[in-house]
Amino acid sequence: MIEFSHVYKNYDKNYILRDLNFTVNKGEFIFITGPSGAGKTTTLKLLIAVEKPTHGAIRFLGTELQNLKPRDIPFLRRKIGFVFQDFKLLPNRTVFQNVALGLEVSGVFGNVITKNVSEILKSVELYTKRDDFPSSLSGGEQQRVAIARALVQNPQVLLADEPTGNLDENTAKIIIDTIKSFNNKGTTVMLATHDKNLISLGRGRVIDITKS
Ligand SMILES: Nc1ncnc2c1ncn2[C@@H]1O[C@H](COP(=O)(O)OP(=O)(O)O)[C@@H](O)[C@H]1O
Ligand SMILES: [Mg+2]
Repeated sequence: MIEFSHVYKNYDKNYILRDLNFTVNKGEFIFITGPSGAGKTTTLKLLIAVEKPTHGAIRFLGTELQNLKPRDIPFLRRKIGFVFQDFKLLPNRTVFQNVALGLEVSGVFGNVITKNVSEILKSVELYTKRDDFPSSLSGGEQQRVAIARALVQNPQVLLADEPTGNLDENTAKIIIDTIKSFNNKGTTVMLATHDKNLISLGRGRVIDITKS
């Protein structure tokens, strides 16, 4: 499903990724790991075409991302859900409205939005908080809203960049379990973290970008 083949990425003369090679199969749960500054976020940015590789090939669902035209980027991003460390929820929109936003942008309206958003909020156990604003939620709840927002369009892949970075250990476990439950239903997951504890909680395949 995803293949990095001899990928190099530099900013100016500074090589961040050197000859990175890995493949991810459909349905896998992958940890992208390596110390801070190793290039984990850069690796995820290459997959959503925020960055282009300096050399090498990146294949995603049969498309060569290094050859992608700008007009094709929105189609790529619809197939990918993305969760950040710092949630990035809109403060003046409710839980429901935050999750619905991505669907509205994609041209989905009315009953379909209500149905899909309600279903995903139930699956992250936040349906009863659908009319609350993000500031009234705990950090773990806010991150579950961000996960629901990323997954409401039923993407084939979920990318999560240090999704538990600001959370305590118990809350981190809940977030990992939430992501894992979607993985069990078929969503391929790539989760970037430098946290070895988290990796032991998740039981996924580990790709260390400093060694691959
Ligand atoms: N847009 C950029 N311009 C220049 N350097 C960058 C840019 N983005 C990241 N870097 C550098 O690339 C290195 C890897 O960054 P990053 O991928 O964020 O690492 P990680 O997520 O593993 O901590 C860091 O040294 C960072 O400073
Ligand atoms: Mg990072």
